[in-house]
Amino acid sequence: MGNSEYILEMRNIRKTFGELVANDNVNLKVRKGTVHSIIGENGAGKSTLMNILTDIHKADSGDILLNGEKVHFKNSLDAARRGIGMIYQEFMLYRDLSVFDNIILGFEKKKWGFIIDRKACRKEIERICSEYSFNIPLDAIVKDLSVAMLQQVEIVKVLYRGADIIIMDEPTSVLTPQGIQGLFRAIRNLVGMGKTIIFISHKLKEVLEISDYITIMNHGRVVAEVLPNEVDEAKLASLMVGRDVILQANKVEPKIGDVLLSVKGLTVKDKDEIVRVKNVDFEIHSGEILGIAGVAGSGQQWIVEALFGLRRPEHGSQIIFDGKDITYVSPREHRLDGIGYVPQDRMGSGVNAKSSLWENSIMGYHIAHGFKNKYLVDTKQANEFTDEIVEQFDVRRQANKDKVAALSGGNIQKMVVGREFLQRNKLLIIEDPTRGIDVGAIEFIWQKIIDLAQEGVAVLLISHELNEVMQLSDTIKVIYNGQLYDGGRHGELTEEEIGLIMLGGNADAK
Ligand SMILES: Nc1ncnc2c1ncn2[C@@H]1O[C@H](COP(=O)(O)OP(=O)(O)OP(=O)(O)O)[C@@H](O)[C@H]1O
Ligand SMILES: [Mg+2]
Repeated sequence: MGNSEYILEMRNIRKTFGELVANDNVNLKVRKGTVHSIIGENGAGKSTLMNILTDIHKADSGDILLNGEKVHFKNSLDAARRGIGMIYQEFMLYRDLSVFDNIILGFEKKKWGFIIDRKACRKEIERICSEYSFNIPLDAIVKDLSVAMLQQVEIVKVLYRGADIIIMDEPTSVLTPQGIQGLFRAIRNLVGMGKTIIFISHKLKEVLEISDYITIMNHGRVVAEVLPNEVDEAKLASLMVGRDVILQANKVEPKIGDVLLSVKGLTVKDKDEIVRVKNVDFEIHSGEILGIAGVAGSGQQWIVEALFGLRRPEHGSQIIFDGKDITYVSPREHRLDGIGYVPQDRMGSGVNAKSSLWENSIMGYHIAHGFKNKYLVDTKQANEFTDEIVEQFDVRRQANKDKVAALSGGNIQKMVVGREFLQRNKLLIIEDPTRGIDVGAIEFIWQKIIDLAQEGVAVLLISHELNEVMQLSDTIKVIYNGQLYDGGRHGELTEEEIGLIMLGGNADAK
């Protein structure tokens, strides 16, 4: 063991992907027992740097030192065994295994040295969950869970496995406020036990709350190191993107047209016959942005799946779109009818990470919109469309033939949003449109949403960011326990009032 002041040092790390320099002589020094945040624009190189630390990527050059001693990991497992744990931005879970098996995999507790003691494992996981208020269904299969749930599973997994240095790459992007506080309690506890946390987030308020040190990256380089008490949110944002960020939507008088979507008596059960959406009614007019606020897991996911034809509503439910009964039609037909969808789970249902950008740009649409010249996909047209998305939505990529997996998390999000926004849809169903987007680009996406509504598009916005719903929506609804409550018109209720309904504090407001 060396006796360095730093538990971790990364020295002159350089990593290129072809022509692109993702990490350009990065230096990072992390003190033991602290929370060290890394922030920066989408594509700045944060995840790449952490992937080098966990040996998912090999650096072109540079050194990693643990406690002052140079280390060379053989592979990711080797890094994990040396005490480096990571919560990944795009979850690393086995979709067909249970939550429980995902958590213990490779880190099983043994009886008599060789028999897996599932009981002991379960007890330990349950202890972690109750101590930090995480509520995850241990026996559920991962592919059946929402993103908010998966995020909790990833956190519990890393806590269970224990590590000296725990990297959290955007762990809170869809957590509930309680989930965030639970995570922060866990972080403080871990730090109290001498563990070290590397925290990556686009939510600057959280960064200021939890960090001891903050490193700011831009275009692959470290551009500043600050202490939380010498900056505020505005200062951090401007250090990150090089200009002032206001984060205020430019809301204009809506041009409300006819009713485009009418939902009556919508009831949805999950596969265990549990009612997730109860008798929900609402209407959206063309030109209107209707926002649904709510704590994750209140039933949003099931409303959206029913609307987009991914889940069968119960008998008696009725969904009318543009005069047509679409209660039981397929997602493909929804696309043909002019309904766009930005899912919360961009990797699961938003894109195919192993396909190229241009293939993804027309995914789900090639039949609907003439991208197909009878037998062949028109690659020229698809490439032009990809260029349009890239240009308008500032997607940082090298070439259209690159795989989506080569984009940073925020850039994948911009790609999905761009694809749906540029298709001339009549109705857009958008879930957490700015998930993982840096503060500099959020305003831009908000503006696009407002512009589309001005052109007559009806927008159903479902977001876990109350601020986002309040700033953008003409009409606000609140979902609590599978039911919709009235949240007033734009600006009618305060954040506190809506927050109260979100927590079930106004059950007769309907
Ligand atoms: N496997 C890869 N192949 C090619 N390019 C890659 C690969 N991984 C990352 N990149 C590129 O490296 C750059 C940095 O990406 P990285 O994922 O580190 O950004 P980030 O700071 O984590 O951004 P975000 O906030 O969007 O998550 C991006 O331009 C990205 O496209
Ligand atoms: Mg990232």
